[in-house]
Amino acid sequence: MEKFVVQGGASLRGEVTIGGAKNAVVAIIPATVLAKDRCVIENIPNISDVTNLFHILEGMGATIRILNKTTVEIDTTHLVEPTVTYEMARQMRASYYFLGSLLGRCNEASVSMPGGCDFGVRPIDQHIKGFEALGANVTIDGGMINAKADLLLGSHIYFDVVSVGATINVMLAAVKAKGLTILENVAKEPHIVDLANFLNSMGADIRGAGTDVIKIHGVDILHGTTYSIIPDQIEAGTYMVAAAATYGDVLIKNVIPKHLESITDKLVKSGAEVIEYDDSIRVRREAPIEKVNIKTMPHPGFPTDMQPQMTAMLTMAQGTSIVTEGVWDNRMRYTDELKRMGAKIQVDGKVAVVEGVPSLSGAPVKATDLRAGAALLIAGLMAQGTTYIEDIHYIERGYENIVDKLVALGADIEKIDVVEGAMAKAL
Ligand code: EPU
Repeated sequence: MEKFVVQGGASLRGEVTIGGAKNAVVAIIPATVLAKDRCVIENIPNISDVTNLFHILEGMGATIRILNKTTVEIDTTHLVEPTVTYEMARQMRASYYFLGSLLGRCNEASVSMPGGCDFGVRPIDQHIKGFEALGANVTIDGGMINAKADLLLGSHIYFDVVSVGATINVMLAAVKAKGLTILENVAKEPHIVDLANFLNSMGADIRGAGTDVIKIHGVDILHGTTYSIIPDQIEAGTYMVAAAATYGDVLIKNVIPKHLESITDKLVKSGAEVIEYDDSIRVRREAPIEKVNIKTMPHPGFPTDMQPQMTAMLTMAQGTSIVTEGVWDNRMRYTDELKRMGAKIQVDGKVAVVEGVPSLSGAPVKATDLRAGAALLIAGLMAQGTTYIEDIHYIERGYENIVDKLVALGADIEKIDVVEGAMAKAL
């Protein structure tokens, strides 16, 4: 079993370069099937979610050519079947974006119910509502979601909840629907805008991405394109918090500071110094960590995907912080792991009361999901002694080369492979 072993105590110092955004690339790769053509995608992060999506595409008959470390050519000219099976889909939630894109391309799609991180119930009713409004018949049978339409027709859709996934999935189908589609109460995350820009570069006609209302004039044909993915807001935010949590001084390069404003604001309130440049941001801390209250909200609110990392930092704040999860029903499970390291946290439903302690101590812990894993890494860096983190596959789903990047910043961390209780092989 692979683990991360972290020796706490180092302050992170130096420079780190952020990769392409996971939650943009996991929508843009499925979107390539909308063109019977070649797309060149640049700034692709080296994460396991991307590798899984490539396997799904290859299974459908697409060809993938790696042009360099971060650039890939995807040729979707020939697809065999508009189907994503359970074996292909179970690893990751974003496999369900093939529903929208295959529906757009073939007027039909069959995709296994998705897997992904477990934050409680993860309904897809808003995706289905959107597909049905465009004229598709949607059924769920044997664990597969099947969507089929004679003709996709533009429609006016008001989402009952703000959903990143539903906004993306319905956009993917609507770009090929006949006539005008108006989507209201949509998500405004940077990756929604990135997907719209990508689709427009393929010949789509999408306006308003980044606001509450998106208008899409359907087109008959989309063509191949060359496109560079935006930097990952959450990877950048994670290194920002890691720098501030370890009393470090880190220049985080290849970022869009505007996307980081809600994180910057909370870090400054916690007593860290944050300096913005055009496409980089520097975070350093000398003053003690101050308590901060946080409530996660859809963009431009504080991102839920930064909640666990920020909570990890606040475990050693002066005073008591209140952290409220405003997006997911069950995203506080990782706090039990932080408590194993000496954190004082009381959880009541979606609210965590975090009472700062003077020190954490290293312990064996488990990543319960991707961002929970990042929080444990940060806690491990802050703690005295050694932290062993299990289930690191969650972390590798979304953070590229995280060990190398942290080591370059002065962290003492390694990945090991433990065989039958013995630490057999340092990787
Ligand atoms: N919801 C519904 N019905 C739906 C869809 C969503 O009620 O049909 C609810 C959900 O239960 C949740 C809320 O709406 O309470 C928001 O869910 P959303 O659909 O926005 O989440 P998602 O698309 O499944 C994406 C990210 C998550 C991130 C959320 C919120 C991807 C692949 N995943 O999930 O990212 O937490 O948006 O910003 O884009 C991560 O990167 O670690 C991660 C989990």
